[in-house]
Amino acid sequence: MGGNRTFTMIKPDAMGNACAGKIIDHIINNGFTLKAMKLVHLSKEQASEFYAVHKERPFYSGLVDFMSSGPIIAAVLEGENAVESFRTLIGATNPEEADEGTIRKLYAEDIGRNAVHGSDSDENAGIEAGFFFSAFEQV
Ligand code: RTP
Ligand code: MG
Repeated sequence: MGGNRTFTMIKPDAMGNACAGKIIDHIINNGFTLKAMKLVHLSKEQASEFYAVHKERPFYSGLVDFMSSGPIIAAVLEGENAVESFRTLIGATNPEEADEGTIRKLYAEDIGRNAVHGSDSDENAGIEAGFFFSAFEQV
């Protein structure tokens, strides 16, 4: 079983659709606790750095443009087996393939504008949380 923390972002599409509050409710109602949260507008440079792991992928420049196109909410979440259980809660990357009731099925438009981010490993959760929050900002 994995650790008890993960990192999420509510992406610009969901912010623009006025879905952020519903998504935060959905997360909390499914047993996660907020340990840090902030509203930020990433620069292109910051979005490029955050997603640097994907820099060779064909979708990288579109992803960077999208993630810097408007404000996002970044948050650290606590919950049992957090990384895996949160990725189950958000659903598949492509909302067309996401299970009914998942956040992406409910709120995402398409694979590029898919409403939320969820870390894919405990190691990356720590790195990604550290990108936005210092240790003392994570309660
Ligand atoms: P995320 O990192 O945002 O939580 O998404 P993920 O793990 O489900 O997917 P990942 O493979 O890490 O890809 C990061 C984001 O890139 C966009 N993407 N587009 N057009 C495509 O084939 C494609 N593949 C990925 C998605 O917006 C994905 O969330
Ligand atoms: Mg990912």
